[in-house]
Amino acid sequence: MPESTWKKVDEYAVQLLSLSDRTLDAALADSDAGGLPQINVAPNQGKFLEVLAASHRSKRILEIGTLGGYSTIWLARALPPDGQLISLELEEHHAQVARKNIDRAGFATQVEVRVGPAVASLRAMLDAGTERFDFIFIDADKESYPQYLELSLALSRTGTVIVADNVVRDGEVIDPKSKDERVQGVREFLARAAGEARLSGTVVQTVGSKGYDGFAIFLVS
Ligand SMILES: C[S@@+](CC[C@H](N)C(=O)[O-])C[C@H]1O[C@@H](n2cnc3c(N)ncnc32)[C@H](O)[C@@H]1O
Repeated sequence: MPESTWKKVDEYAVQLLSLSDRTLDAALADSDAGGLPQINVAPNQGKFLEVLAASHRSKRILEIGTLGGYSTIWLARALPPDGQLISLELEEHHAQVARKNIDRAGFATQVEVRVGPAVASLRAMLDAGTERFDFIFIDADKESYPQYLELSLALSRTGTVIVADNVVRDGEVIDPKSKDERVQGVREFLARAAGEARLSGTVVQTVGSKGYDGFAIFLVS
């Protein structure tokens, strides 16, 4: 099946199910205008995250990798009025663009974007005794995924759902000799998750407007 068909099916689903709106489109437009890379989740993947978090009744959501706040907005839409989302981002400029997008989406009081290397931000949260999260979305630098898993677990409770994006990487994830450090990061992440007794989960391959990749989804016990 050619890639053009994957894209057409994405477009079909987005149109049929109304998976874009002014707020989301404006977030992408302003991310583009700000020079941010187009590495956000696709609209149908954003909705997938919203449905997952909402069906799980998540009140506290942690996101690792904000970019322009596109997936943040999708996840924030799953929150109840008293819910909270913290999103971690390395780049100050990305965070500035994201905050504007998040404010326009109506989530200024519920969403906080914290700037800095996510590993340091996560350790600071642990040191501060931050309340555990219900739902964690990992979508930052792939080399650090093994550390993100360890720290996410430390910030989880029984019943927390952890989702990680981009774990298939055009299928390269099955190559143990890959010289791509992002592939090795993802492989180590999955190997550690597989060996972690508190985690039960799976890998789901995805195709579409963002190419061939996949999500990992784990439930913490
Ligand atoms: C794939 S993008 C996130 C996309 C976003 N979740 C979305 O779908 O709209 C990855 C983001 O992680 C950020 N990032 C990279 N390394 C990081 C690190 N060490 N700590 C925190 N954020 C990092 C990048 O600057 C980038 O904005």
